[in-house]
Amino acid sequence: MPILESGTNCLKGGVYKAFNKIGLEKFYFPVSILTEFGYTLLSKLNFGSNATPYKLNSYISDFKTNIKLAERENDQLLAVVTGANSGVGYETAKSLAYAGYVVIMACRNKELTEKAISDLKTETGLDSFKFMELNLASFKSIRKFLESFKAQYTKLDLLINNAGVMMCPYMTTEDGLELQFGTNHVGHFILTNGLLNEIKAAKRARILCLSSIAQFTGVYDKSLVLESSKYDKVVNYGISKLANAMFARELSKRLEGTGVTVNSLHPGAVDTNLNRHLGITAYSIGRKFLTLFLLSPAAGSLTSVKLALSSEYEGVTGKYFEHEHEMVPKIEVDNPELCKDLWDFTEELIATYDK
Ligand SMILES: NC(=O)c1ccc[n+]([C@@H]2O[C@H](COP(=O)([O-])OP(=O)(O)OC[C@H]3O[C@@H](n4cnc5c(N)ncnc54)[C@H](OP(=O)(O)O)[C@@H]3O)[C@@H](O)[C@H]2O)c1
Repeated sequence: MPILESGTNCLKGGVYKAFNKIGLEKFYFPVSILTEFGYTLLSKLNFGSNATPYKLNSYISDFKTNIKLAERENDQLLAVVTGANSGVGYETAKSLAYAGYVVIMACRNKELTEKAISDLKTETGLDSFKFMELNLASFKSIRKFLESFKAQYTKLDLLINNAGVMMCPYMTTEDGLELQFGTNHVGHFILTNGLLNEIKAAKRARILCLSSIAQFTGVYDKSLVLESSKYDKVVNYGISKLANAMFARELSKRLEGTGVTVNSLHPGAVDTNLNRHLGITAYSIGRKFLTLFLLSPAAGSLTSVKLALSSEYEGVTGKYFEHEHEMVPKIEVDNPELCKDLWDFTEELIATYDK
């Protein structure tokens, strides 16, 4: 139901802008959560052209039609998906393999990823998945990943910055940064910048950054990132997801004219392991109840898969998406000075915290 989805985004965008104008921005997030439930209920009408498998197949076949066979035969498409061993990333990796990509599963846990790869191979009958170790909470691990990638590949067609950690108690990365900002934003910042030469070497590369509607709970305030006494697990998750969208916007500007596109997205409220720090385990009654109000991981992969594959988004860059359609991001994302400031701040943090 694309008209309903894009119509809802239009309405929500209008409400957000209006709330902003009259200083009621903080009341927008509850509105947004309510529309999430509406969307989830809609997605449970899993039949016809609304069904998740139907939509995924249509994005995959659209891609296969548009990338000419000869082009594919001479040029093996390569994708890196961070955190692909579970949830949204796992389902995204599956669709990319069906579309003809070799998918590098850039993950921190070898055992979990080997199990995921074995399941993906069984499910798809494809041998298109490779494990490469990457811990985004460690500068050393990211640099090791980059070294190993560059030793094997000269171009990268698709980078999906998907990995994430949500609402954990105060913790730090190996290098001492607050864990959510350090992993979700700074880790992906180093990874993406380190892969830019290979990304530019591809014919039509795309970069996706998984943000969240939680960006609307975030504020661009450096002291909240730097001072542990100010830590609030909800606000700091929001800050890291706001940073994902601001980074995507700034990078899209810096890559203008290269043919590389960069977009950010919210995958929906999805039933995954992301809730681990909320005390909701896979087998708890809370999780089973919550599942009723959450998208399946496959439905949660729809926006990533569409942005990665659809010809509709050829050349589209610097935008933010929810539920497979463009959406208005938090106001900071539309502020070029702030986005550049975040970039400079991140570089300073890396220089300071690098041991
Ligand atoms: N689920 C939702 O409702 C929702 C809503 C909005 C946005 N998102 C965003 O969607 C993305 C995917 O999340 P998901 O829902 O699919 O959750 P998930 O199943 O928990 O997947 C998260 C992935 O990130 C990996 N990861 C965490 N810390 C890492 C690190 N330091 N280095 C490398 N990988 C790391 C995890 O690895 P391990 O398995 O080893 O822990 C896992 O593979 C996240 O960016 C999240 O913020 C999700």
